[in-house]
Amino acid sequence: MTPDQLADLRRASERLGADSLRRLLADPDRFAAWSHRVGPLLVDFSRQRLDGAALDALGGVLAGTDWEARRDAMFRGETINASERRAVLHTALRARQARLPALAPAAVLGEIAEALQRIEKLVAAVQAGRAEHGLPPGITDVVNVGIGGSDLGPRLAVEALDRFRTGRLTCHFLANLDGEGPARLMRTLDPRRTLVLLVSKSFTTQETLLNGQVLRDWIVAAYDGDAAAAQGHFVAVTANAAAAHAFGIAAERTLPMWDFVGGRYSVWSAVGLALALAIGSEAFTAFLHGGALIDDHFRTAPWRTNLPVLMALVGIWNRNALDLPGLAVIPYCDALRELPAFLQQLEMESLGKSVRPDGAPVAQATVPVLWGNVGSNAQHAFFQALHQGTDPVPVDFIGVIRPDHPLGANHRALLANMLAQAAALAAGKTFEEALAEAREGSEAERRVLAAQRTFPGNRPSTTILLDVLTPESLGALIALYEHKVFVQSLLWEVNAFDQWGVELGKVLAKAILPVLSGEADPAALDAATRGLVAAIRTRDVR
Ligand code: F6P
Repeated sequence: MTPDQLADLRRASERLGADSLRRLLADPDRFAAWSHRVGPLLVDFSRQRLDGAALDALGGVLAGTDWEARRDAMFRGETINASERRAVLHTALRARQARLPALAPAAVLGEIAEALQRIEKLVAAVQAGRAEHGLPPGITDVVNVGIGGSDLGPRLAVEALDRFRTGRLTCHFLANLDGEGPARLMRTLDPRRTLVLLVSKSFTTQETLLNGQVLRDWIVAAYDGDAAAAQGHFVAVTANAAAAHAFGIAAERTLPMWDFVGGRYSVWSAVGLALALAIGSEAFTAFLHGGALIDDHFRTAPWRTNLPVLMALVGIWNRNALDLPGLAVIPYCDALRELPAFLQQLEMESLGKSVRPDGAPVAQATVPVLWGNVGSNAQHAFFQALHQGTDPVPVDFIGVIRPDHPLGANHRALLANMLAQAAALAAGKTFEEALAEAREGSEAERRVLAAQRTFPGNRPSTTILLDVLTPESLGALIALYEHKVFVQSLLWEVNAFDQWGVELGKVLAKAILPVLSGEADPAALDAATRGLVAAIRTRDVR
C-alpha cells in the first residue's frame, strides 16, 4: 500500500464519522447488499464501518496488487515464498476435491495422491485395530505430538468434529514443553494401546522431540526395555524423513510433508492424520472438499463478492483506516473453542512482519493482535472492555445455525446472545438514551449514572454463520481465513509464508539451557537473564 493510498483510506473513514453504523444499519437493504453466501458459509459484513465509496477506495488499493495473477501464481506452485525459495501449495492438497482443474504441477499432485492413499490405509488399519504396517494391534488412544502448525490445525479439527468420531479411538494432543502434559497422559493411558504421531515438518523442533522421547521411554519400558518391540507405536509426519529414521521410525510409518506446505497451512496433509484417524477417511475427504469449495470461489468470484478478498479488505480498513490494532474472534460454539488459537498462528505468524520481501520497511501497520474465546463465556469476561473500553476491537462472530444436539432452547439463547452482542457493539447507547432510562435520584445523580451507562457504539464486527458444523463447513471456514491472510499479505506487501521472527528466541534458549543446568558460564547472558537464572538455580532444590 502506498502512503497516498493509506491517506485516501483514512480520509474515507473520516468522512463516515463517529455514528456511521447506526446510520448505515438504518438502511433496510444493508444486509442484502453486504452479506454473501458460499456453500455452507454466510458472511455478513453489514456491521462494518464501510459504505460503497469506502469499498471502492479499498478496491482501488486491491487493484494495485495484481491479486488475481498472484493468486494464480500461488495455485500454480510458483516460488512465491521468496525468502525460503519455496512454492506455496497447500491448495494442491485439496485440488482433487475442487471443481476447477488443478493448476499445481502434476508431480506434486501425484505425490499428494500417493500420500492420501497411505493415510487411508493407515487409518483403516488403526481403526480396525489391525497389526499392519508394523503397527501394534488394538490401539485405543492416539497422541499427536507436535507444536504450532503441527498441532493447532488437527487439534482444532478433532475437537470441532468430535460428533463425527468413528470407532473407538481417542485423540490427545501434546505440544508444550511443560512436562505436566506427558506426565498426565502417561498416568492415564495404556502404553501398549497408544499410538504416537510425531508430527514435525523439520523434525528438529525441541518440544516435539523431547516429548517424543519421553513417550518412547514410557512405551519401551512397557515392553521391558525392548525398543524394537515398541517401534510400531510411532508414526512420523515430516519433511525430514532422515531425522525420523534416526529417531527409529520405519519408512513404512513415515508420512510426508513437503517444503511447499507451510506448517500453519498443513492440516490438509498427513499433519491431519489425527483428524483422519478420529473421523475416518471419508469424512476427512469431506473436510478437503470444504477447503476446495473456497478455493474454487476464491479463484472465480469477482472481488466485490469474493469472501476472502472482502474479509481481507475489511481487515485492512479496520487496521489502517480506522487504526484499530486488535481482532477478537468469538465462536458461539464450544466445538470451535480452539479456533482463536489456530487463527492466532495463521494470521499472526503469517502477517506479523514489518519489512517487505525486498527488505524495505512496510508503509503501514500490519497484523492486528488476534485473540478470543467462545461466547457466551466471553461476554462474562472481557466483553465489558469491548463495549466500553477506550480501544475499540473489531470482532468476528462465528455461529452455527443448526446444532448437533436436541437442546433447541439452549441453542436459540446462544444465537440470540451472539446477535445481541453484535447489535450492541454497533448501535451502542447514547448519553441521552441512558439519561432517559435513569429514573431515580437527582438530576446530577442521573447524569452521573447515565455517563456510566453510555455505550459509544460504532464498533465493527463481521458475523459468519455455518449452516451446520460438519467436516465440509469447517474446511471451508479454515480455507476462508487462509485466503484472507494471503490477500492481506499482498495488500501489506509482506511474505505470508515465512516466520523468521521465531528464530532468535530458539537460538537464545539453546544458549540458556546449559547455564540453567550449571554446565555453562552465565557471564555471556544479559543482566536480567543472569539474575533470573540465579534465582531459579538457588530455589530449585531437587
Ligand atoms: O517455531 C515456529 C514453527 O516453525 C511454526 O511455523 C511451525 O508450525 C512450528 O514451529 C512447528 O514446526 P515443525 O512442524 O517443524 O515441528
